[in-house]
Amino acid sequence: MAPETPPRPTRALSGIQPTGRFHWGNYFGAIRQYIDLQPAPPGRVGQPADEAYYFIADLHALTTVRDPDRLRSLVHAAALDLVALGLDPERAVLYVQSDVPEVTELTWLLMTVTPMGLLERCHAYKDKKTRGLPADAGLFTYPVLMAADILAYDATVVPVGEDQVQHIEVCRDLAGAFNHLYGDVFTLPKARLVEGGAKVPGTDGQKMSKSYENTIEVFEEPAVQKKKIMRITTDSRPMEQPKDPEGDHLYELFALFAPEAARLQMAELYRRGGFGYGEVKKALAEAAAAFFADARRRRAELESDPGRIDAILAAGADRARAKAGEVLARAKRACGLVRGSKAAGSTGRRS
Ligand code: TRP
Repeated sequence: MAPETPPRPTRALSGIQPTGRFHWGNYFGAIRQYIDLQPAPPGRVGQPADEAYYFIADLHALTTVRDPDRLRSLVHAAALDLVALGLDPERAVLYVQSDVPEVTELTWLLMTVTPMGLLERCHAYKDKKTRGLPADAGLFTYPVLMAADILAYDATVVPVGEDQVQHIEVCRDLAGAFNHLYGDVFTLPKARLVEGGAKVPGTDGQKMSKSYENTIEVFEEPAVQKKKIMRITTDSRPMEQPKDPEGDHLYELFALFAPEAARLQMAELYRRGGFGYGEVKKALAEAAAAFFADARRRRAELESDPGRIDAILAAGADRARAKAGEVLARAKRACGLVRGSKAAGSTGRRS
């Protein structure tokens, strides 16, 4: 019988664009799942990955954020928020994309095996084109940088939202094309659709999204948050009329935060009728405040220690560069960019 090859470690990786402060949609739709995928501390159950890499995609954000001070502050805030929310820099590698120049070098290697037609079909670029807006080459080649982000770390699982699945397919295509030409260099990743909370309603009942201006931020002042909550749109059915909680966006928001018992009670209240939406909003504000209370406290603590986040990101960058450097060297050897004695006897294949 053929010897069994040991299973490769599962390595989760994802990038988050720092184009604005995180809102509830970002948290329940993505961040929470990243945190759940971190290698578990001893004694905890769950199905975490063996290794996890999470980064702040500042190079990608550069295609939309054109103000240097704002970019700097958004990157710093993103790191603070992530750690406060439970991303543990001991268990996951947390870094800033542009701190790993190996990735941009790898982007070029991948660019040489990227068919133009493949990028022309990608939605970020296509949407701009069809709306008659000018697009730059950064936006056009965005998926190639994203492929390098993933391949540079031999990632096996990429937790992403629906809108990024196409980009993971592009990544797999490019890795396949490169491997076909030069041997087994890259690990082909799989997308893992983040489920559950992916559908978080905004204050107007549509999907919560920065572009709809209907967001509630995770760490904005509780008073500001409360104001936004009180303005959540509701229908004009009379108070006494019984209502179905399912499909009611105010109830759906409440259900994200409230413990099981409180949720069941609220659902009961809806079905019985005789309550006002104002009461639900108040309960939502309280449940959300309680839900993020620990994170808010941790964030304040971190913020009072100015060098702390920078140190975390510097350590993350070191670890990320060590891995990306290995993969880049493999790719360069494979395609003939390494000469002399260093090239001898090596194919660049994965061992
Ligand atoms: N494009 C992703 C987004 O907008 C962010 C991102 C950049 C990413 N590089 C990545 C996600 C690599 C997963 C893997 O959400």
